[in-house]
Amino acid sequence: MHRIRALLACGVLCLSVWAAHAEPGQPARISAPPMGWSSWNSFSNTIDARIVMQQARAMISTGLKRAGYQYINIDEGWWLGQRDAKGNIVVNRKAWPALAPGEHAGDMANIVRYIHGLGLKAGIYTDAGFNGCSSMYPDIGPKYLHTGSQGHYDQDFLQFARWGFDYVKVDWCGGDEEHLDPSVQYAEIAHAIERAERLTGHKLYFSICEQGTDSPWTWAPHIGGMDADIWRTSRDIVAPIVASSPHANRKASFAHVISNFEEGIHPAAEHTGFYNDPDMLVAGMPGLTAEQDRVHMALWAVSGAPLLIGADLTKLNDATLKTLKNPMMLAIDQDRLGLQAIEVARPGRGLEVWSKRLATPGERAVVLLNRTSSPARIAVQWNDLGLVPSSPVQVTNVWTGKTLGLLRNSYAAAVPANDAIFLLLRGREGGMNRYTPLRSGERHAPETPAGKDAPVRFSGVVSSHRWAAIAITYTNPSASPRYAKLHVNGMVGTWIEFPPTGNRARVVWIQAKLERNSAGNVLAFSARCAPSARISSIEVQ
Ligand code: GLA
Repeated sequence: MHRIRALLACGVLCLSVWAAHAEPGQPARISAPPMGWSSWNSFSNTIDARIVMQQARAMISTGLKRAGYQYINIDEGWWLGQRDAKGNIVVNRKAWPALAPGEHAGDMANIVRYIHGLGLKAGIYTDAGFNGCSSMYPDIGPKYLHTGSQGHYDQDFLQFARWGFDYVKVDWCGGDEEHLDPSVQYAEIAHAIERAERLTGHKLYFSICEQGTDSPWTWAPHIGGMDADIWRTSRDIVAPIVASSPHANRKASFAHVISNFEEGIHPAAEHTGFYNDPDMLVAGMPGLTAEQDRVHMALWAVSGAPLLIGADLTKLNDATLKTLKNPMMLAIDQDRLGLQAIEVARPGRGLEVWSKRLATPGERAVVLLNRTSSPARIAVQWNDLGLVPSSPVQVTNVWTGKTLGLLRNSYAAAVPANDAIFLLLRGREGGMNRYTPLRSGERHAPETPAGKDAPVRFSGVVSSHRWAAIAITYTNPSASPRYAKLHVNGMVGTWIEFPPTGNRARVVWIQAKLERNSAGNVLAFSARCAPSARISSIEVQ
């Protein structure tokens, strides 16, 4: 066993911290990014029960459900802003009729029952402000006012849960129009959702759609002490339709795919079941070639992005279906460490190497991305990935499933212009160093508050990578998740979820930007996960 000793200068004290080469234990169970379909990209605000039923059936007949896609999400346009005298949402009875004997028209529970009857889950949509987006960007159809939930948070989210919805997307057009503070409004909504869940016993997956303007990755995870599951990181991947161009003409653009991918990369915030959301998929929509669909899916998979198909499921061709159902690609997206890709190298202008750490030790998903307009050779070095360079790495092309070789040190390939190569690598995991916290009774560095609420601190943490991979070993014998906020070198932190573990130790993984090759890094976890949960060590690469 290899051991290193790091000597730290901590003001007047000099503490020594031992770091032992170690292998992290079993990962805790965290939720994977959602997979499903959403109505917006193809149907805009023309959505109704007939379309939803058709799409839900197509989810089954195309084999997408079998591949893992499960949500049927109804986006804006389902409600035209009317409420009854008691403030309850009133929907168009023709658009949402009775679907089975004994049902009443205008009851959204009908469509939920239909979706559930097919073994799928149902999603719904609202805005955090008074008005929804279609009041500002009318898209197809008239301009509808008051399609937001402001002033009715408790009532609306309770209604969604009572109707039986499993997922709610909450937009920000109204909030933005009113100059509200998204971190405040979404925290209120998180509380309303929590109350609705308590009253109905029904869980609502919470999707924040603030579009990235107020850096939601810094406040959305664990908002207001509650769970937000995903947050949008950028503007829409497809431009709104203007009245002059019918939605059948709506086109996806590869440039938007690339910019949404780039804007969605916030690796420090993506962990323990919280995900950056670069927007719904455009694969299978007019505007992208089959190759571009594959690049899009590779980028979303290494991002650990939600996979919500935006195309019309009844019109997908075989090539798109094959891409959307590729099992290796889906496993990469859904990987149980829940981490996001890191850009590990930029060998030239517009040439990028992205790597996502996967749960099987030694496995990485790698995208060689050529953003230039000429073909280029791009190499990936094992060293940059944290794999042992001298050990052979099996290189597999994700799309063809073909093994490209058992290689030492690196792999290089010619990547066509505006294209990517998507690889799964299986090699030998590089070393990690284990750190144990400074314990009570030990003399603390002067800046460390003493007492039982003192954070759990790790000093002298070293990584040779720009982004360190950190495995946190803990136990949480309670029945519910605990949360702790991590501050790296005193900087604004990230909330980490610690799911229940029983009496065993389990591991959650995060990525953090440390000062490279420095022994001065300090990681401090807030003590809020106490009393029942305990962090015992961290392993760092
Ligand atoms: C915003 C969102 C889109 C969609 C539309 C609906 O633009 O970002 O995803 O929900 O509103 O109007």
